[in-house]
Amino acid sequence: MTPTDSSDPSGDAHAAPCPQHVAIIMDGNGRWAAKRHLPRAEGHRRGVEAVRRVVEAAGNEGIACLTLFSFSSENWSRPAGEVSDLMRLIRLFIRSDLARLHAKGVRVRIIGAEEGVPEDIAALIHEAESKTADNQGLILQVAFNYGARDEIVRAARRMAELALKGDVAPSAITEELFAAALDTSGIPDPDLIIRTSGEQRLSNFLLWQGAYAELVFLPVLWPDFCAEHLREAVEIFRSRDRRFGGRPEEAAPDPLAKDVPAREKHA
Ligand code: IPE
Ligand code: IPE
Ligand code: MG
Repeated sequence: MTPTDSSDPSGDAHAAPCPQHVAIIMDGNGRWAAKRHLPRAEGHRRGVEAVRRVVEAAGNEGIACLTLFSFSSENWSRPAGEVSDLMRLIRLFIRSDLARLHAKGVRVRIIGAEEGVPEDIAALIHEAESKTADNQGLILQVAFNYGARDEIVRAARRMAELALKGDVAPSAITEELFAAALDTSGIPDPDLIIRTSGEQRLSNFLLWQGAYAELVFLPVLWPDFCAEHLREAVEIFRSRDRRFGGRPEEAAPDPLAKDVPAREKHA
């Protein structure tokens, strides 16, 4: 796979590039609520307000695609009351925000398994995707009922079915073909994955697509996330030296230089 083209919208050839695709693991709603002796549902409700802020901010940062992890395939294991609060919020969000997102030219895409999604939510998802399909603004990918291993298995199943039918030879299965069978087909890989709440793990998020993503873990709880946090994560991203397995940039600072002054540089 070729890395995402992250050209700089400022036009400054020497400036570090901006991330084109930012993905966020929106974590910490429960802790935000617990700190305030509020029910977890209130943390989730305030989390939706942070979603509105980040969608707005992403457009202003020149980000082309924003992926938000809203509900994982593993989150079904939470208490039934919390699961139904989260389902109620996704319904509410689509109903109340779809018209505004559409008016702003946002293209909504949902990634995740269809199986197991309540019928009315599946219909709302379909409405959101079809209504905004031709929009040319920010691509807003919402990972809902999403687990990366499940996504990879579903893609592998599709490949196996094609092979069984004789539509593709196993030897013709390439990274590109496989990626096209993933839910994110047609969307460039994330350049930057942010996780809030201080946890430092991926929790089954974009395991294939995140192969070369820069990871930024911020100590802010999701409901407190605002434009400045996105800006901070983008700045951290811009200070990183992305190599994709290649040689370090000539001008890049050697992070070990001060510890090992005599270290021989390999040309
Ligand atoms: C993220 O917040 C929202 C979802 C996972 C749906 P959490 O609910 O995980 O909040 P914490 O991690 O318990 O604080
Ligand atoms: C990941 O957060 C899923 C979402 C943000 C939707 P979790 O809170 O579910 O992850 P773990 O359980 O801490 O790994
Ligand atoms: Mg959590």
